[in-house]
Amino acid sequence: MRIGVLTGGGDAPGLNPAVAGVVERASMYGDTVLGLKRGWEALCIKENENHVVELGPEIIREYGRLGGSKLQCSRTNPVAANNDRTDTVIANMKKLGIDAIVAIGGEDTLGAASYLFERGVPVVGIPKTIDRDLYGTEYSLGYDTALNVICESAQRIAHSAESHQTVFFLEVMGRHAGWLALRGGEAAFADVILIPEHPFSVDHLKEILRELLQKSREQGFDQIYKMIVVSEGAHIEGEEEVRKDTKLDEFGHYSLGGVGNYLKGLLEHDFRHTRYTALAYLQRGAPPTQKDRAMGRRFGNNAVEMIRNGDYGFYVGVQRARLVKIRLPEIRKSPSLVNVEKFYDKERLNVKQQWTDIAE
Ligand code: F6P
Repeated sequence: MRIGVLTGGGDAPGLNPAVAGVVERASMYGDTVLGLKRGWEALCIKENENHVVELGPEIIREYGRLGGSKLQCSRTNPVAANNDRTDTVIANMKKLGIDAIVAIGGEDTLGAASYLFERGVPVVGIPKTIDRDLYGTEYSLGYDTALNVICESAQRIAHSAESHQTVFFLEVMGRHAGWLALRGGEAAFADVILIPEHPFSVDHLKEILRELLQKSREQGFDQIYKMIVVSEGAHIEGEEEVRKDTKLDEFGHYSLGGVGNYLKGLLEHDFRHTRYTALAYLQRGAPPTQKDRAMGRRFGNNAVEMIRNGDYGFYVGVQRARLVKIRLPEIRKSPSLVNVEKFYDKERLNVKQQWTDIAE
């Protein structure tokens, strides 16, 4: 068999290990793997010779440990309403002799895979996004690495914040889902965690910070700082999310970013020293953690198994801590957001600690 593999959407740690997993399993069966560069773009353009590379078992070790995507990514949408390139995708597969595709990506890449499957393209999927918000799967590649970066960065920033008694805003990614802020902030012992799922009031935020500072003084701390982990999609009640610019990508998404700076501006006259850092792409740029390497490898191996069984139109995911096959159209359902009642303390603007579910 000839299997094409592509990585679409934003890069995330775990993509290369997933490609390595695909090659590992395919070579056990004597199948050929073609790496398709820049996501769906490789199959959407006619002159695509420079977009295709054969991947033999020699890549496994290197890919297995690297962050980013050696195959590169793009947000190309092959089934855009105003530019449907399904026929070109099918013609390119024929030209390259590709029997099946493994698409590795998030809601957009796998959503496109789902539409292509409905048009007869033999495709299976692997879930990836640091946001961990895909419908149907408890895990997506990149989440664990991003969480670890947040944790380590919070620790570094704490040294500076402690030295200057700062009220520090640490902005993290996640788009409309607060998982990275909630679980990163929890591990960092953040004083406040702001998530998109719970619009907050600035007065409430100030009140909490004043109380926390007062308490620390009463307890005799001499180096007082407060850390607020804020999700890029968090917003004040009645206000919109803060956008980075006005551009939309091919899937119609705008870019978020800057809320930490915005909040710092609103609070800087009430507190002596306020600062802001956005972790942005540092969260995606790290080498994959053990979990993202292992999950990528497992996802890659099982994607090939699905192809071998003729299970097209599915993606491999995790449910109740088990690897399972999930129908691709499920990915188009509403994203998996933080259940505020279950996991978030609206009074303290922080993670709930008492007797909450561990499974998300
Ligand atoms: O979906 C993953 C993600 O990293 C989000 O957390 C973030 O909002 C978005 O991608 C950034 O996208 P881009 O790479 O297009 O700036």
